[in-house]
Amino acid sequence: MASPAKSSELIFYINGKKVVEKNADPEEMLLGYLRRKVGLTGTKYGCGEGGCGACTIMVSRYDPVQDSVHHSAVTACLLPICSLYGAAVVTVEGVGSTKTKLHPVQERIAKAHGSQCGFCTPGMVMSMYTLLRNKPKPTMEEIRETLEGNLCRCTGYRPIVDGFKSFCDKQQCCQNKEEGGKCCMENGYFHDQEEDVSEELFGTEDFLPHDPTQDIIFPPELLLMGKKQDGGQLCFQGDRVKWISPALLKDLAHLKAQYPDAPLLVGNTTLGPKMNLNRAVYPVLLHTGRIPELRAISRSSNGLRVGAGCSLSALKDALQRGMEQLNPEKSRVYQALVQTLQCLAAKQIRNVATIGGNIMSADPKYDLSSVLAAAESTLHIVSTAGVREVCLNEEFFTGFGKTALRPDEILLAIDIPHSKPWEFVSAFRQAQRREFAFSILNAGMRVVFRDESPVVESLDLFYGGVGPTLVKARTTCKELTGRVWDEKLLAEGTQLLREEISLSPTAPGGRVEYRRTLVLSFFFKFYVQVLLELKQKGIAVSDPPPEYLSALEQYRNELPHGHHTFQMVPEVQPFTDPVGRPRMHQAAFQQATGEAQYYDDIPAVQGELFVSMVTSTRAHAKIMSIDASAALAMPGVVTFITAEHVPGQNRRLWFGNIEELFAEEEVICVGQIIGAIVAESRELAKRALRLVIVTYEDVLPVFFTIEEAIEHQSFFEPKRKLERGNVEEGFERSDHILEGELYMGGQEHFYMETQGVIAVPRGEAGEMELYVATQHAAYTQEVVGLTLGVESNKITCHVKRLGGGFGGKVMKIASLSAITATAAYRTGRAVRCVLERGDDMLITSGRHPFLGKYKVGYMNDGTILAADITYYSNGGCTLDESSFIMEKALLHMDNGYKIPHLRGRGFVCRTFLPSYTAFRGFGGPQGLTIIESVLHEVAAKCGLPAHQVREVNMYQGESSLTHHRQLFSPTDMLRCWSECLEKSDYEERLLAVQRFNSSNRWRKRGMSIVPLKFGIGFSKGFYNQGAALVNIYKDGSVLVSHGGTEMGQGINTKAIQIASRILKVPMSSIHVKETCTGNVPNAAPSAASFGTDAVGMAVKNACEKLMGRLEPIKKKNPEYTWKKLVVEAYCQKISLSATGFFMGPHTGVDWERSEGTAYYYFTFGACCSEVEIDCLTGDHKNIRTDIVMDVGRSLNPALDIGQVEGGFVQGLGLYTIEELQFSPDGALRTRGPSDYKIPALSDVPHILNTHLLTNAGNPHAIYSSKGIGEPPVFFGCTVFFAIKEAIAAARRERGLSESFSLSSPATAEKIHMACQETFTTAASSSEGGRCRPWAINV
Ligand SMILES: Cc1cc2nc3c(=O)[nH]c(=O)nc-3n(C[C@H](O)[C@H](O)[C@H](O)COP(=O)(O)OP(=O)(O)OC[C@H]3O[C@@H](n4cnc5c(N)ncnc54)[C@H](O)[C@@H]3O)c2cc1C
Ligand code: FES
Ligand code: FES
Repeated sequence: MASPAKSSELIFYINGKKVVEKNADPEEMLLGYLRRKVGLTGTKYGCGEGGCGACTIMVSRYDPVQDSVHHSAVTACLLPICSLYGAAVVTVEGVGSTKTKLHPVQERIAKAHGSQCGFCTPGMVMSMYTLLRNKPKPTMEEIRETLEGNLCRCTGYRPIVDGFKSFCDKQQCCQNKEEGGKCCMENGYFHDQEEDVSEELFGTEDFLPHDPTQDIIFPPELLLMGKKQDGGQLCFQGDRVKWISPALLKDLAHLKAQYPDAPLLVGNTTLGPKMNLNRAVYPVLLHTGRIPELRAISRSSNGLRVGAGCSLSALKDALQRGMEQLNPEKSRVYQALVQTLQCLAAKQIRNVATIGGNIMSADPKYDLSSVLAAAESTLHIVSTAGVREVCLNEEFFTGFGKTALRPDEILLAIDIPHSKPWEFVSAFRQAQRREFAFSILNAGMRVVFRDESPVVESLDLFYGGVGPTLVKARTTCKELTGRVWDEKLLAEGTQLLREEISLSPTAPGGRVEYRRTLVLSFFFKFYVQVLLELKQKGIAVSDPPPEYLSALEQYRNELPHGHHTFQMVPEVQPFTDPVGRPRMHQAAFQQATGEAQYYDDIPAVQGELFVSMVTSTRAHAKIMSIDASAALAMPGVVTFITAEHVPGQNRRLWFGNIEELFAEEEVICVGQIIGAIVAESRELAKRALRLVIVTYEDVLPVFFTIEEAIEHQSFFEPKRKLERGNVEEGFERSDHILEGELYMGGQEHFYMETQGVIAVPRGEAGEMELYVATQHAAYTQEVVGLTLGVESNKITCHVKRLGGGFGGKVMKIASLSAITATAAYRTGRAVRCVLERGDDMLITSGRHPFLGKYKVGYMNDGTILAADITYYSNGGCTLDESSFIMEKALLHMDNGYKIPHLRGRGFVCRTFLPSYTAFRGFGGPQGLTIIESVLHEVAAKCGLPAHQVREVNMYQGESSLTHHRQLFSPTDMLRCWSECLEKSDYEERLLAVQRFNSSNRWRKRGMSIVPLKFGIGFSKGFYNQGAALVNIYKDGSVLVSHGGTEMGQGINTKAIQIASRILKVPMSSIHVKETCTGNVPNAAPSAASFGTDAVGMAVKNACEKLMGRLEPIKKKNPEYTWKKLVVEAYCQKISLSATGFFMGPHTGVDWERSEGTAYYYFTFGACCSEVEIDCLTGDHKNIRTDIVMDVGRSLNPALDIGQVEGGFVQGLGLYTIEELQFSPDGALRTRGPSDYKIPALSDVPHILNTHLLTNAGNPHAIYSSKGIGEPPVFFGCTVFFAIKEAIAAARRERGLSESFSLSSPATAEKIHMACQETFTTAASSSEGGRCRPWAINV
């Protein structure tokens, strides 16, 4: 064996530049290396576990076997730098820049409005760039596959796809001149001049051509290195871990014998998350990526031999090639595997994750083993003792994460056999999200028939996800062998499986009943599949009942597309005036090139430290002791701070409510901050955290759920009530009374950029600068000042931009900033805090869960006379903004319906969970959804179409009073409603849905349409103010500062458009640099959809002042250019700087009298969605959504449509797939993208049409526009109600009651269980009632 060098030199390239790393650390991932060592911050951190795609880069390697260079998109957060020997890395900075030249990918995503906050944009760019490197003219399907691993929380994906599909080969598009004759590749297919309506959000004519010859080349040096592989071993020694990378298989075998406990590292997609998130340390890592035998794929007449180190992408390609060459009978195993691989992880992961790693991880939620076992695959195992073969079956897996391999053995290759003529193999999986999600249950099934007969020769049913290891249904398989493939076999098989596959009610992962029923559903699907194939082969089996066929269809993931229309500006408007035109986000090019700076992209200042939070592991306990001595003894740990180190107040105040920064005596939730470690680096700080020992004494009571809080009467004050009419009288006069409830789960913000701040002490007079990700800089400034005991005038907060906020960066960030500032104050050094995704989810919490209980009185025609609704929200352990959120829910409880007698009560429950906070919509979606549920139920009870019952109850006429007696005109809401009905072709499609349902037994469709009336502005009137500062410089350039925060919504772009209109200078001469408390003091938070209203008016005011000052000179010298005008003004000693202010309306509600003008005005809309569900699995597909939105006269239709679609998709997540889970001890279980699923590309409705209402206006806001940030989130409920309709159709067909409860989110589990199909009832068990569940609904 070649002896390992002491420590090798790591040679690789980044963006064409050679890197020689003499002391490469095996624990270092490329993401941290790029960002902190190389200073390339375009690649972003979003999760650290491969689950979001924000860190996507391209890795190119020379492949000696194929003698070609291979380019792959890879997630840098899981890529150890040591694995990069001989590779070339390209990051977003290497693709193009605003200083040199943009790459067409960067240009097109920006111009197509595919970049809002921009945090996901570099990752999107890199995925697409890599695709183009491999295929300059990709197909739509390839684009879809490429983007499946890139999450975006802002855009709703459609604009990103619109930009990228312009690269497609036109021949490869949908070819689908569907309704209106629009092909999926067209943007702006019509301009209706008469109606002044356009669909063109961007022009494609001036797109840079894509010229692959301009791309960065693979470095010739690496080519030579690759060709001259010398068989030498590489070794990298870090502080704690040694990395050995042999080039020869025999060396690897010796090393494994020498280090039997050392894991083999290939793709690092199982090991990496353990190291990154669980801080696992492996003293020796054996890297196998350089061993040719492990990557070899060879074909024989019996099948495919795949090296264990083959990536899943390579495996998929090989199988697909095999499928093309083999006849379908022989390739059934390949087909099953390809089907599985298509939805296994995402492209970036499949490019590095290996088949060997997948099997050897021995994790039952991994998908391949069940299929490979069913296919009777053979494993080749090697060690110094030689080679042996074992069968891949359930016996191979000896426990969770354990296999029958000896510690010194290596999996060399896997033989995947061809299928035989009478052999049928299938794979099944069901996940929380159809794409890019671990399976809840997976299965591989195989049946062999006696030649040309329906008699079972042998049967194998393997399940992953019903226990700690792969499970074979042995008894079932045995009993069914020798039987005829018919209904009797199905019935008996179902019964046998039900008895054989058991799952404890406390099984890890929860969803026990659901998993048990999936076991049966999958078997049924397999049965039908095989039955049909036998039939096709002419075997005498009974005809499958026609209704069975709908059990088979697989949902295809497709790229979304749609129309988006808006009203053009009047013809008389000068072309130079950008207001009302679709204009690109001001920083989109910077975002697409990675140049846009977020707080954590700011280079470290000299001596900068890092702070990490020690959080409580108990929900309610006395802190008995805190021992940080072991942590402090670690070299590099500077200090540990707790409440006693706070120089000023250890508390944050919000409208008189107190929240401790550090828990002092008692903790009241898991995740509460107790102390903070300050260390020289983030890695050290995180390691040291684990050494801090906190001892607790549990305190009672402790409870987490709304129901428990009601039992304990544990509520925050104030309790609110709104009432109009006489509810009791209304009930008496009603034909019917209905009582019910709806539970809505919470939601995690999941902004792509986690929360954080850099505090830099200035060392003079207590000054401190903070670079902070906040939506409310003034509040952060105030809290930091109070914490340090320093006046606000010494504290300056800078906010360049946020990588998404959605309300989550208003409150908690002030505490984090105060703690970080305390660390900076005590050490006298700059301190940085960047929350990891899991900590962010744990500490900062999210949207409130709500429970609405209602009693409704209604007439036979669906008219609601009276409703009494009690709202309970789970506020968590402190009040935060919960009472205002509850107020907003109550103020929205009428939505667009005039219910003469209406009463709402609101209780904020105090529980022992992290405190819930603001989230886009701020209680509005919850308030609205409960009333929509009431309408839905009333319609069901009356046997009337839900849209008809909605119409009967809607506000009508020119003006109306809301339930809190605010005057408004419902006209535009009614226009949105009727346009939505018309544009969505509602009536006709409803009939089509009914037709579909009557001919499909296992698939059902549903449609739902809802109106929307959403209040804009703060109901706390004093917040309705905005301020700005506009400076004109002598060169004519203009700097606009304002109090709002740019977080993707485009507030800066709109501010520039407004300034451009008034000053009459091009947008390119106007700049917004940052939000700074030193420039614009006391600003209100950017929230309540009011940011642009407030800031826009203030900018207008400042600009008008300046124009007023310039006017006399202009009058005298009309020929002056802008520049000359400015210089002249300067010479005349005229101030070229002006502040602008907007004093908004005095809103407010008198809660005693149940009345008040709560909002400045209302934004209206209507939305219609159609879905399809698979009753057997609960899977659903969003088929089509049509939105008509009233945004007044849009300031920028591109940005507004972006907000509408992005908000809708966020809502779609809220109502369908985003499910937070807590342990019975109150600890959040869902702490990253692998457990918590926000919508990915495939969740967006295949058709998404968005129309901005034409001829709309608004006398109250800037240039007749309307606020739009929050309202569209609620539209996600149309998907929820459409699902409910579909479930009702399924139940109706089976004669079950149409009245059933469905809580939000309508996950696959809930959909399936609500359908109560035969298998659900067959699998349900009586056990478990008293057991401690794995997760609780809070
Ligand atoms: C975001 C994300 C999503 C994912 N989604 C899915 C999914 O939907 N379905 C699914 O099935 N999987 C999924 N995975 C898991 C992924 O498929 C596996 O992590 C991967 O296949 C493991 O391969 P690897 O090369 O990265 O293994 P590594 O992490 O490098 O190693 C994993 C383990 O395998 C052992 N090992 C590797 N090679 C050998 C060998 N030749 N001989 C003996 N032992 C070996 C190692 O010792 C180690 O213990 C996902 C992973 C991520 C990060
Ligand atoms: S940070 Fe790498 S995938 Fe999320
Ligand atoms: S633009 Fe995609 S996450 Fe913000």
